[in-house]
Amino acid sequence: MKFFLDTANIAEIEEAASWGVISGVTTNPTLYAREGGNLAEFHNHIKRICAIVDGPVSAETVGLKRDEIIREGLELAELAPNVVVKVPTMPEGLAATKALSDKGIKVNMTLCFTAPQALLAARSGAAYISPFVGRFDDISEDGIDHLANVVQALSNYDFGHDVEVIAASVRHPQHVLAASLIGADIATVPMSTLAKCVKHPLTDRGLKAFLDDWEKVKNS
Ligand code: E4P
Repeated sequence: MKFFLDTANIAEIEEAASWGVISGVTTNPTLYAREGGNLAEFHNHIKRICAIVDGPVSAETVGLKRDEIIREGLELAELAPNVVVKVPTMPEGLAATKALSDKGIKVNMTLCFTAPQALLAARSGAAYISPFVGRFDDISEDGIDHLANVVQALSNYDFGHDVEVIAASVRHPQHVLAASLIGADIATVPMSTLAKCVKHPLTDRGLKAFLDDWEKVKNS
């Protein structure tokens, strides 16, 4: 499973990229707003992220009509060769995805929750589909069960183009584990979750013991 970083924070992206573990980045309007982003700077911000990351960078459209989504998508795709246009799962979004993917532009269909939505996204030409896990858990449904349905349903068919499932709305390492066991192609994770994935108390305890013993070696 590949890891994408789910953030618009430049410092986090630089740090995770330096670890050599991320294969892409996903952003959304909320994540950009969290960075204090303004409209005038949006395209530059996406360009900066694209220059740091050696892999796809999802930038989201905000239009609700297909023509607006297509226009935004074409502008975003011009920013850098690794831009992926992120489009919400809705009828107008499907139409825009079809038009954009017909032009060779990669689309990540976002706000996907169910297998039927994912099947439609794949048919419309989406290269990436992002089922949200944590938001199901937020309403007392098992997001991992829905993710498993998406992965299984898509694996039953050939869509004539590559489709990768991005486990999204991932909140903790348990989600990462479950997504990998299900066979999601990618997990997009916040920096806090990536940091939790690398931590283990036995690693910390073992490291402390090694360093304490090395002190003895040095002082002997
Ligand atoms: C996916 O691409 C979204 O940006 C993200 O994973 C949403 O996560 P959230 O539900 O924690 O906001």
